[in-house]
Amino acid sequence: MKIGIIGSGAMGTGIAQVLSMASNQVVLIDSNALALEKAQNNLKNTFSKLKEKGKISAQDEQRFYQQITFESDYQSLQDADLIIEAIIEDIQVKKKLFKELESWVSDSCILATNTSSLSIASIAAACNLPERFIGIHFFNPAPLMALVEIIPAVQTDAQLANKVKNWVSTWGKLPVITKDTPGFIVNRVARPFYSEALRLLDESYANCATIDAAMTQVGFKMGPFTLMDFIGHDVNYLVTESVYQALYYDPRFKPSLSQKRLLEAGYLGKKSGRGFYRYNLENTDPESNAIDHSKLEYIANRILAMLINEAADALFLNIATKEDLELAMTKGVNYPKGLMAWGEEIGWQQVAHTLDQLYHYYHEDRYRLSPWIRNKIAN
Ligand code: NAI
Repeated sequence: MKIGIIGSGAMGTGIAQVLSMASNQVVLIDSNALALEKAQNNLKNTFSKLKEKGKISAQDEQRFYQQITFESDYQSLQDADLIIEAIIEDIQVKKKLFKELESWVSDSCILATNTSSLSIASIAAACNLPERFIGIHFFNPAPLMALVEIIPAVQTDAQLANKVKNWVSTWGKLPVITKDTPGFIVNRVARPFYSEALRLLDESYANCATIDAAMTQVGFKMGPFTLMDFIGHDVNYLVTESVYQALYYDPRFKPSLSQKRLLEAGYLGKKSGRGFYRYNLENTDPESNAIDHSKLEYIANRILAMLINEAADALFLNIATKEDLELAMTKGVNYPKGLMAWGEEIGWQQVAHTLDQLYHYYHEDRYRLSPWIRNKIAN
């Protein structure tokens, strides 16, 4: 296939690597010459490192690199089969781009966006032929993350999602199909991992180290605060805020002011030396990082119940099939188990009990049990 990628930033470069290694002709385009040059150097270095490590042959190193061309205009896209857009996350800029692109590509060329947070329907609406428009959402870093979410818009041709699913499989990735709703699967269902942890911290129930320990003890590779510091509060907080706004301020998705304050202070996490934790060893205070073992079980039960409830509600709202939901959380964010399987294991009655107790205590909509679980218990 011939595939055009627009935007040669972190995502565009990673996607170009994946597609070239799956034997596609790739055209990587950026309006910024410096960004394009950087992408070209990065890809050259990546293939060279892969060869040094013995992961690819010298012949493949050349082939993978030569299959990618680096351009600043759309001329060579006339015979492209697919375009994947990975430019800045701005709806007006993306709409303008697709309007222009349509005059360069053929009518049979499929158009896709890698957006994390915008509505696919709204971008598709800028196109003359919106039925050929779809979301193809890779995770960062694209070469390492197996999952790809495929998001048909309300305008998308009914056959297209499955066609794209087949393509994505041939790229060596794991495709899941999701509804065009805020956060798609992963960025929606994973929210309580952060938000309920933040809630416990805000209420001074436990410190970060205790909450982190509670979650690693049940199998997560990193606790929520370590993970938020790792992702960066600029990225993690803004995703939470955008999902919250896009879901009409559903209290289940409410962001935390303490995370916002870290962002405002420039304490972005590991990359800036300070987030919830301090990464400057001189300032580490062992007292504040002491783990309270008596609280681990309650914390893990509560955060897990919230996560399982979110997954069950995604199923209730037809956001994806159960299989795709499980695959997305295990392969997309490396959860130790699928959340529906986890609900089954803990027992739906027990999950409901945890949620209902929280609801009773707080009288907040945030803790409402998904009707999916209520039905499951009744039948
Ligand atoms: P980035 O900022 O690293 O790269 C964007 C690139 O697009 C820049 O090189 C910029 O020069 C170029 N660009 C901007 N406007 C352009 C235009 N009109 N025409 C051509 N090139 C243009 O951004 P990143 O992180 O790669 O994200 C790209 C997209 O992927 C966004 O929609 C983002 O939401 C999405 N995404 C990002 C993830 C992440 O973790 N960074 C994960 C999954 C999706």
